[in-house]
Amino acid sequence: MTEYEEIIRKLKADKENAKRDVKLIVDESTAAKFKTSYLSPASVLAESTQAIKTLDPKYKPLVGQASNEHKQYLSGLYDEAVISMKENQLKASLTSEKLDITLPGRPVQRGRLHPDTQILRELLDIFSAMGFQVFQSREVETDEYNFQLLNFPVGHPARDMQDTYFMDVADRGDNPLVLRTHTSPGQIRVMREISSLNPVDPPPVRVIVPGMVYRYEQVDVRHETQFDQLEGLAVGEGITFSDLKGTLTDMARRLFGPDARTRFRASYFPFTEPSAEFDIQCFQCKGAGCGVCGGGWLEIGGSGMVHPNVLRNGGYDPGRFTGFAFGFGVQRIAMLRYGINDIRYFWDNDLRFLEQF
Ligand code: DAH
Repeated sequence: MTEYEEIIRKLKADKENAKRDVKLIVDESTAAKFKTSYLSPASVLAESTQAIKTLDPKYKPLVGQASNEHKQYLSGLYDEAVISMKENQLKASLTSEKLDITLPGRPVQRGRLHPDTQILRELLDIFSAMGFQVFQSREVETDEYNFQLLNFPVGHPARDMQDTYFMDVADRGDNPLVLRTHTSPGQIRVMREISSLNPVDPPPVRVIVPGMVYRYEQVDVRHETQFDQLEGLAVGEGITFSDLKGTLTDMARRLFGPDARTRFRASYFPFTEPSAEFDIQCFQCKGAGCGVCGGGWLEIGGSGMVHPNVLRNGGYDPGRFTGFAFGFGVQRIAMLRYGINDIRYFWDNDLRFLEQF
């Protein structure tokens, strides 16, 4: 056998051994062992490469090529074995360990503000920019504050506009507890609080009173048994109806854009004189009439000049002070702004609705 044949024979045998030994690779140490046997300077491969130097020149290219091929074969064998060993190790650790740190994390659900809260905050920004302060009044009221001091005496027919929940907690005669039907009793409470600071020369009032109100309603797309109102009250010397119009028109412009228009229609509320309902020209059709508004105008709420009896009940002399007041439903504004056609969605807690805002 020539030296050349001897080398080729050794390489072939080495290949067979490698094929057998590669199956022993199960972890890092058996992998290292294989590498030492077949790919280190002490290997058959290294020996054959070494031998080229002293070989008859006519065999040099042949042995060179054979060694190269052998090296590639062994490296491929080794790399494949290491990859599948790592896969097996991962599989084993996934079944034996509870914590899988290779799983991507679950996305964190971001919370958001309820559409009602969003609109309310916008309204609070608008009015605080005009110098109004927020006054929080109570939700459980007395008949006296909810009706009587606002000029609805016991038995007054205007009470029929606001059916409410009377609470049968004790015999309170003509002054039972009620869930407030509107935020207007906040007018009396805030005027009394401010005028008591200086009864002789009471400071002016400029507040908004946001909050939940309750009515005994037949629930439908436009009526709920609870909803948010925003009440406004300004009392001082020389306050006129023009101030009321200016304030509400400014609110409309800030809410619906600089060319928003308002309209005031004569109306009746016991606690204002004169009284007006106020509308905003539809931002969708600009007054032409469309599906959002019907006749071109959106009905927003009630308003008027504070009735002298109400001023007096709040501690303000109607001979010296005047004031304006307004009140409207916050959901109503949200419904117009976002095109929501059913007020019941607000309190359903249905994420398909809430996630749209
Ligand atoms: N409180 C009235 C209601 O809920 C709305 C209202 C009308 C409030 C006129 C006012 C006002 O302050 O001046 O129906």
